[in-house]
Amino acid sequence: MSSADPQIISVRPQMTAEIMARTGLDEDKLTELVHRFYDKVRTDAVLGPIFAARITDWGPHLERMVDFWSSVALMTGRYHGAPVPAHVGLPVDWDHFERWLVLFRETAAETCPPEGAAHVIERAERIARSLHMAVEDAKPRTIPSLL
Ligand code: HEM
Repeated sequence: MSSADPQIISVRPQMTAEIMARTGLDEDKLTELVHRFYDKVRTDAVLGPIFAARITDWGPHLERMVDFWSSVALMTGRYHGAPVPAHVGLPVDWDHFERWLVLFRETAAETCPPEGAAHVIERAERIARSLHMAVEDAKPRTIPSLL
């Protein structure tokens, strides 16, 4: 696929084309990854109830998440949201992020070629660590008394 291919809608078409060629990823694979991943999340005993308490209309969330992964994995610039505030205040600790990553790694292996799976997993792990830090930083702290 060349960078002039009209199917690639990206703010950096050449870079996006290069990543697609290197990883075997494309919009269809990312769409399948996102949909299958959230199918698992929604029925997961640990994560399901946390999402169910906040998301009633899954259509817009899934669309946003496909845009997010298109931006993160293919550098298309399609996502314009703010992930940190969406997670600050959630009742989660590292065990929840680890469970999220277990399901994500599993789904990536099912839906992407090996190079593509490694590409999205590496990014998911990095973002999970930084979201976890933001969530922990925002938790109210009890300062131990020195008296
Ligand atoms: C403990 C694990 C996680 C939980 C429980 C969780 C939960 C949620 C929930 C409930 C929302 C919807 C918030 C709302 O619309 O009010 C959301 C949004 C989102 N999540 Fe997560 N999430 C987790 C981990 C992650 C990770 C690891 C990533 C990225 C790799 C991620 C990326 C996003 C993005 C991009 C949004 C959309 C933010 C926006 O633009 O509004 N999440 N998440």
